[in-house]
Amino acid sequence: MENVKTRLFLERKIDEISVLFEISQSITSTLMIDEVLDSIVNFSMEMMHALRCELRLLDPTGTFLEVRAARGLSKSFLTSTPIKVGEGILGCVISQKLPISVVDARKDPRTRHLGVVKRERIAGLLSVPILQRGIPVGVITVYTSKPRDFAQNEIDLLTTFASQASIAIDNAQMYAKTKEQYLSMVMALAAAIEAKDSYTHGHSQKVMEYAVKIARRLDLSPEEVETIRYAGLLHDIGKIGIKDVILGKKEKLTSDELAELRRHPNYGATIMEQVDLLRDIAPLTLYHHEKFDGSGYPIGLKGESIPLGARILAIADMFDSMIADRPYRKAYPYDYVIRELKRVSGTQLDPEIVTVFLAILKGEEAARIPSV
Ligand SMILES: [Fe+2]
Repeated sequence: MENVKTRLFLERKIDEISVLFEISQSITSTLMIDEVLDSIVNFSMEMMHALRCELRLLDPTGTFLEVRAARGLSKSFLTSTPIKVGEGILGCVISQKLPISVVDARKDPRTRHLGVVKRERIAGLLSVPILQRGIPVGVITVYTSKPRDFAQNEIDLLTTFASQASIAIDNAQMYAKTKEQYLSMVMALAAAIEAKDSYTHGHSQKVMEYAVKIARRLDLSPEEVETIRYAGLLHDIGKIGIKDVILGKKEKLTSDELAELRRHPNYGATIMEQVDLLRDIAPLTLYHHEKFDGSGYPIGLKGESIPLGARILAIADMFDSMIADRPYRKAYPYDYVIRELKRVSGTQLDPEIVTVFLAILKGEEAARIPSV
């Protein structure tokens, strides 16, 4: 009898360990913090056979627990239950750094927001702290609609899972920080081009804005939109490698000078390829002067063999070059620029994207002019 019990216990442990292993593989396979938090919630529910779960992390001041991911709980429950460290059940979990299980929260004196808890039809709960190097950073809580006495092995399982989860959260937060640093590096690089080439002053920023609008209208994925955003800012980064006399020349460029200027996409792509986080942007920078009919540079790519992001940049780039004042000429009139975009649609520019861009501009124009 004892042997059977031990065997069952071991089998269950092995099951739990393999589930935990699977989970830790899964939650560390993404670095996007929201995705990580969502999958922690999903796995917690699966493991605890619960239908409701929430994950809260400490706010930057370390005073309140903020809901960062949840399932099976109403929005009104999540927004009307602020939790301060040290107060209520979840607040105690974080301050004591220990799990708490409650058979029926409606009858527990520590329960805050009792009315909301009742309305949500919550009874049992199990809440475990998320610790990073021994410091509490948040709590995972599963709820049941009927009173439930969580067994010690269930409490242990969720606690062990929370320690796996904390590693995934830590990684994702570090990644987010790296991305932030990356963004400031991108901004510094963009500023560097603008400092060198007065013609492009404010231009990169505008190209980025137009390109992002087009990308969104085309329903591209958030990652693709991000790539296009940075590519917009950095599409002319290769001008760093072009001599100042060429960039600053007001007279017509000689053919040699023009050939040199036209190397900026290659220089730009070479810079991007050196940096891990910028690598995806390299092809967009390289091909932003290609034309739809194959008459562009650096290699004369044609039609859809030009990356979509580069075709988008080409439109944004042309539009802003014409619509803004330049040191050597005034801006072209808006109607003229629109006519030009239509004129080169299908030859210089991708006609489908031109149509999309014109629709965006029309929408913005309509929003600007109040109807009489
Ligand atoms: Fe360019």
